[in-house]
Amino acid sequence: MLYSLQPAIIYRAHLVLTFCNGASMKRVLYPGSFDPFTNGHLDLVRRACKLFDEVIVGVAVNSGKSPMFDMEERKSLIEQSCAGMPQVRVVTISGLMSKAIKQFDAQALLRGLRVFSDYEYELQMALANRSLEPDCETIFMNPTHQNSFISSSLVKEIAGLGGDISEYVPPAVASAVYAKAGK
Ligand code: COA
Repeated sequence: MLYSLQPAIIYRAHLVLTFCNGASMKRVLYPGSFDPFTNGHLDLVRRACKLFDEVIVGVAVNSGKSPMFDMEERKSLIEQSCAGMPQVRVVTISGLMSKAIKQFDAQALLRGLRVFSDYEYELQMALANRSLEPDCETIFMNPTHQNSFISSSLVKEIAGLGGDISEYVPPAVASAVYAKAGK
């Protein structure tokens, strides 16, 4: 446990020293339902870590979905999946995303665009967030094409029907989904 915390502690100390010297911190908030977190989400987090000093993964409420996992379970599964990535912090968000971006002092929201059909929904959400909070910028990144067809619903459906999801989600998530699905 202590061993897995060390990279995070060392990285935080490095950040404090760097930003005490006047540099500005680049921080992005990556929100989603993450029910559950998939390899596609992990791919995006890894890419974002190359561009930002800190990547905050925000487990949020999508009022249109009935989740399999509660917020704390989802948070814990993401933390396990991102263990050893000191730039990553996982939080839960219960209110509006446009408020959360200020609360966490992030410069932008990050969303994944997998296929063209994601675009309309994402554009609507980005514009709504900016209308609520004029400084709220949304940036989009693409996962690799191997991850472009994965969705959380698909993973749950495959597991529920007894299929193998190990290629689509991190190991901790696979075990948790099988347990919930009774497989
Ligand atoms: N790889 C794999 N799958 C991906 C992906 C990627 N890189 N990016 C998105 N997806 C999938 C997700 O698995 C999910 O699939 P599902 O529908 O089968 O679950 C789908 O694409 C999109 O879901 P997700 O990324 O989890 O986001 P969401 O659309 O459920 O989240 C919130 C939307 C939570 C960010 C949004 O509702 C929100 O901001 N809520 C807070 C309240 C608020 O401010 N509301 C107003 C918003 S304008």
